Amino acid sequence: MLLTPSSGQRPVRRVADVGTGSGMIAVLAASLGYEVIAIDFAPAMVERAKQSLAPWPDAQVRQGDACALPLQHGEVDAIIGRNVLWTLPSPEDALKHWSGLLQPGGRIGIIDGTHHGDFRRFPALYKHLSKAFGHGGHPDPVADNNPNKEVPLATLDNPQQVAELFRRVDLAEILVRDHHEVDRRLRASWSWLNRVTYKPRTFSISARVR
Ligand SMILES: C[S@@+](CC[C@H](N)C(=O)[O-])C[C@H]1O[C@@H](n2cnc3c(N)ncnc32)[C@H](O)[C@@H]1O
Repeated sequence: MLLTPSSGQRPVRRVADVGTGSGMIAVLAASLGYEVIAIDFAPAMVERAKQSLAPWPDAQVRQGDACALPLQHGEVDAIIGRNVLWTLPSPEDALKHWSGLLQPGGRIGIIDGTHHGDFRRFPALYKHLSKAFGHGGHPDPVADNNPNKEVPLATLDNPQQVAELFRRVDLAEILVRDHHEVDRRLRASWSWLNRVTYKPRTFSISARVR
């Protein structure tokens, strides 16, 4: 979906997956037939992505930063990233950088969610219950030592906040989609406390470089 060209645009062939982590999205793209360059700044993740992508010998894994990608201009037709934009100190600069690496017609796509901030139903109840029962494996989003507080999108409670960054970077055909089925599946694996109090919202945004 993120990689579907708009009408009249050339098809996407080569894709960079930024912040690839263990390479899950890169594997998906490779298995769909795209030529993949998976990128992460963490050496341990680069190794994990290499293992995941081993069945696709043409896939490449590179170490590099999302704001200074190890890519030549026009080397890929699309740049995608799941759950990485919100971790960046300057997500708008990253989008600008990605846009500058693509040819006109190139695609940018992100998948993210509002799971990182303190967007809970019944925040007072959560505070009380989490003291008594712990956080059920999730970091406490309101704790002072939560590193998420250092990044602007950690307080993301609406995909439109990210879409606005896409607009500022002057991308075209910005399309925001909700992924309720993903949320249903996520919730199934959470502790009862998180199921009751979290408001998950997974979304994707895709756009075209002018
Ligand atoms: C939450 S994980 C998501 C991993 C993967 N995209 C997925 O959805 O399974 C975020 C990944 O982004 C990487 N990352 C964070 N900041 C980065 C940066 N500035 N440049 C490159 N990678 C980064 C982390 O090392 C981590 O692997």
